[in-house]
Amino acid sequence: MVRVGTAKMQMDNVPRVLVTGACGFLGGHLCRRFGVESYDVVGTTRSDCAVPSKLKTVRLDLCDHTSVSAAVENTRPQIIVHAAAVCRPDVCEERPSLAFAVNVLGTKALASAARSFGARFVFVSSDFVFDGDEGPYSESDLPEPKSVYGHTKLEAEKIVQKHVLNYAIIRLSLLFGMGTIKHMSMSDHLITALSSGQGVTAHTDEYRTPLHVSDAVDGIIRLALSDHSGVVVHLAGDERLSRYSFAYRLQSHLRASNAQIIGTRIDEGLGRAYRGKECTLDCTKAHLLLGFKPQSIEKGLRRTIAEWRGTS
Ligand SMILES: NC(=O)c1ccc[n+]([C@@H]2O[C@H](COP(=O)([O-])OP(=O)(O)OC[C@H]3O[C@@H](n4cnc5c(N)ncnc54)[C@H](OP(=O)(O)O)[C@@H]3O)[C@@H](O)[C@H]2O)c1
Repeated sequence: MVRVGTAKMQMDNVPRVLVTGACGFLGGHLCRRFGVESYDVVGTTRSDCAVPSKLKTVRLDLCDHTSVSAAVENTRPQIIVHAAAVCRPDVCEERPSLAFAVNVLGTKALASAARSFGARFVFVSSDFVFDGDEGPYSESDLPEPKSVYGHTKLEAEKIVQKHVLNYAIIRLSLLFGMGTIKHMSMSDHLITALSSGQGVTAHTDEYRTPLHVSDAVDGIIRLALSDHSGVVVHLAGDERLSRYSFAYRLQSHLRASNAQIIGTRIDEGLGRAYRGKECTLDCTKAHLLLGFKPQSIEKGLRRTIAEWRGTS
């Protein structure tokens, strides 16, 4: 059963939700949306950062397991949405022990705390658990990561499946939308460069299914509040686009035609981490299970630019 948007009708029994990574791109959006929907939301922070003034927060460092169990013990959530992670694939490649400590061991500590306190656990995973050679991937396809980041996310998925009774795993495609100064999204980077006339480089042969962050939040909240347990669900945008085409479409909406977008190929080596050519996700299951229906890329881009201009 999906209960998005009905929070006000069940104020007597509003679940408390703990969202990790409240200062992050996705975590920030999740906290705001749970708040708007009148859920009792608590966001975790690792250091000082700007969060909405009404948001309750608790300190949690995934490398400090005492802080992890204390955060869960002190807030006693019914639902934990675990979005915090070391998420940049190139950073994970450069610092594999940090990626393992945060993404794998940190998730294990949080999953154990969730189990001890009987909380439902929603783990945010990634399209990078696949090698990206032959998408679109459905939930029945075998994950075969080729990057440190993908390996850590897959390990964390297995830990969640092993340690938590009531869990759901969401694999997200590449996100876009308005980020924060500390955690800029990939569209923030493109808008900042293109609007100031700087050129950008983008892969012409790296295909993804970009998803606006508001749709990711919608799908995550639908799954978090549902009774579906022991499931893996993919969330993705409705169009397959190369990174180059995405940048080009964004530039058209931005009307920043004097900035150059230089197309490169993956094998020319822009990043350290392995990137597959076809890291796209099929989200038929999310549609059937949750009624998930993302907005079009065009609508998402218009919204992103309006938010960036402060005109939304
Ligand atoms: N963005 C995408 O395109 C995308 C695609 C697929 C999946 N995902 C998944 O979505 C989730 C959110 O990604 P995002 O893009 O929102 O990432 P993000 O903006 O980089 O935010 C990551 C968050 O994790 C927190 N964090 C990092 N290390 C931590 C630690 N040791 N202890 C506690 N918190 C820690 C950060 O805290 P600080 O603010 O203190 O640094 C930050 O709040 C991740 O699980 C990622 O794997 C993202």
